[in-house]
Amino acid sequence: MSFPAEFLEEIRTQIRVSEVVGKRLRLVKKGREFLGICPFHNDTKPSMAVVDEKNFYHCFACGAHGDIITFTMEVEGLSFPEAVEKLAGIAGLEVPRQTPEAREREVVRKTLGDAMEAACRFYEEVLWSPEGRAGLDYFRGRGLSEQTIRRFRLGYATEHRTALRQAMSLKGIESAMLLEAGLIRKPEDRDQTYDYFRGRVLFPITDRRGRVIAFGGRILGDGQPKYLNSPDTPLFHKGRVLYGLAQAREAASKAGEVIVAEGYMDVIALAQGGFPHAVAPLGTALTEDQITELWRLAREPIVCFDGDAAGQKAAARAADRTLPILKPGHSLRFVTLPIGEDPDDLIKRGGAKAMRAVLRRRPAWRISSGTRSCAPRQSIRPNAKRISSVGFATGSTILPTRRYRTPMATRLKDVFASCVTPVGAGLSFPDAPGKQTIQRPAPQGSATARARVSMVLGRRQKQGVMAAFVTHPSLMEEFGEALGYLQFDDPFLDKLRQDILQNIPSESALDAAGLKRHLQGLGYSDDCDGLLGAGTLGHAAFARPDASLEQARAGVQELLARMGKYQLEEQLADAQQAVAAEFNETNWNRLASLRAALAAVNSSSSLEEAV
Ligand code: UTP
Ligand code: MN
Repeated sequence: MSFPAEFLEEIRTQIRVSEVVGKRLRLVKKGREFLGICPFHNDTKPSMAVVDEKNFYHCFACGAHGDIITFTMEVEGLSFPEAVEKLAGIAGLEVPRQTPEAREREVVRKTLGDAMEAACRFYEEVLWSPEGRAGLDYFRGRGLSEQTIRRFRLGYATEHRTALRQAMSLKGIESAMLLEAGLIRKPEDRDQTYDYFRGRVLFPITDRRGRVIAFGGRILGDGQPKYLNSPDTPLFHKGRVLYGLAQAREAASKAGEVIVAEGYMDVIALAQGGFPHAVAPLGTALTEDQITELWRLAREPIVCFDGDAAGQKAAARAADRTLPILKPGHSLRFVTLPIGEDPDDLIKRGGAKAMRAVLRRRPAWRISSGTRSCAPRQSIRPNAKRISSVGFATGSTILPTRRYRTPMATRLKDVFASCVTPVGAGLSFPDAPGKQTIQRPAPQGSATARARVSMVLGRRQKQGVMAAFVTHPSLMEEFGEALGYLQFDDPFLDKLRQDILQNIPSESALDAAGLKRHLQGLGYSDDCDGLLGAGTLGHAAFARPDASLEQARAGVQELLARMGKYQLEEQLADAQQAVAAEFNETNWNRLASLRAALAAVNSSSSLEEAV
């Protein structure tokens, strides 16, 4: 559903951000802003600012940012239209009418929905009646309590061919409606319809608000198919639904955690075992829609698929689907169950304790955009295919992380190749030491900033910095981001800076010999046009080829820090203004990346200082 922009604007102006945020956390007024403890990450310090004038909240620690609508979505686990409706209610605004077609669809949905609800009630009643004995015994035999059975509204369809149709007809629900709802079937050669689900226990599938939209039916014994699901209908699109979402939603968004299991029974066993925040796709690989839905509940959903080959394959497919849609601050974590067990089996065997141990265990792997400790930032687009297939080829649960680490040069290459779009995506691994991110040089710094560099650093010092990058190109891992933002007033040095940055996509970017070849290819001489001569290196011992990496690092850091104090901070102030004036991804990424650049050069300074 889409709302007219003016309507959304009206909502935003009618309700102050501090009003909405203030209901969830204690806000303290500081000048024109409010400060509070950010609910989106674990913190004890008030790092979230709320600016009513600008209609936004912003966390300087975790980067959470948005308006009243996003806040309501995130905190309450609502979809966009749901959040809008809720806020419209608070503001006393009427939600604009939809188009006639949309209204008509709504009517059909409603009547179909009524039929599904009636069917669900019917099947529930059957389960608890003498006729449903086999079904109830089945569920009890699988360890479900009465409370669980009722919570998930489990039901039973007898073998009778027309039980549902007859019961529904008594309620005035016609066959045509049941056909459209996928509840009965009509053979092509005959008029007589028959019930779709027969001799099966039933799992009602709901939308996220708990309205029944389909059923999954499990055979009691060993027959085939084990599960029969409703066909797709106007209400039900398999790939968009997560089983158990309605029941899990509140717990998940409260805990900021959501478990994704494979099957109906897993979700139910998890809920009964003390993990109410579990959902499952419906026997297919996770779709983008489903992943997006999961991210509304938690920043890092935990995928917990069966410990068999099929389960692991499904997890791999989920990973592949996730990569292209990764957003800063969002990721997926994959944990692996003992071979041959699903969560239902595991809980039955080892109780909640065993399950908790699996969840707490180091994840087999995780996909995330490259968030460092603080700001969400553009990161490295990995060679996803290679990584996921390596991870699974071995079929093992946890593998040493180092083996997957994409060599730095490739990772840098990927960044530079991919940063046409503002948001990159990445794979990170549990123990990846010091996730590095490097960004493309950003927009121009101001002329005054450039002038300051020359005031602060002498010519020799600037030459020393650039010489060190030539003799120790691996410094780019740490300082590449800063180098991208700094500019030299000396045209030769600035061109060299750009030429080095441009070399990043090559395989040998971080290798001295490779960089030298590259520069020579661009026409630089063997001693880099005198840069590596005694004149420079005599004053900058840290930049000599025989200096250790540590020495080079220390020298570069000290000098860059002096520049950074001016040039980076000035750009940072610019970037902050830009974010305040218009929050968009480009502006935000620039701010985040500048902060990272500053953090790298000011080794001891905290980000708060910089902000
Ligand atoms: P599983 O066979 O792992 O389901 O299939 P389960 O829930 O653990 O089944 P139990 O414990 O034997 O009762 C995982 C999911 O795949 C879908 C269902 O959604 C199921 O929950 N599935 C499975 C089907 O749609 N059809 C099938 O025939 C089998
Ligand atoms: Mn199972």
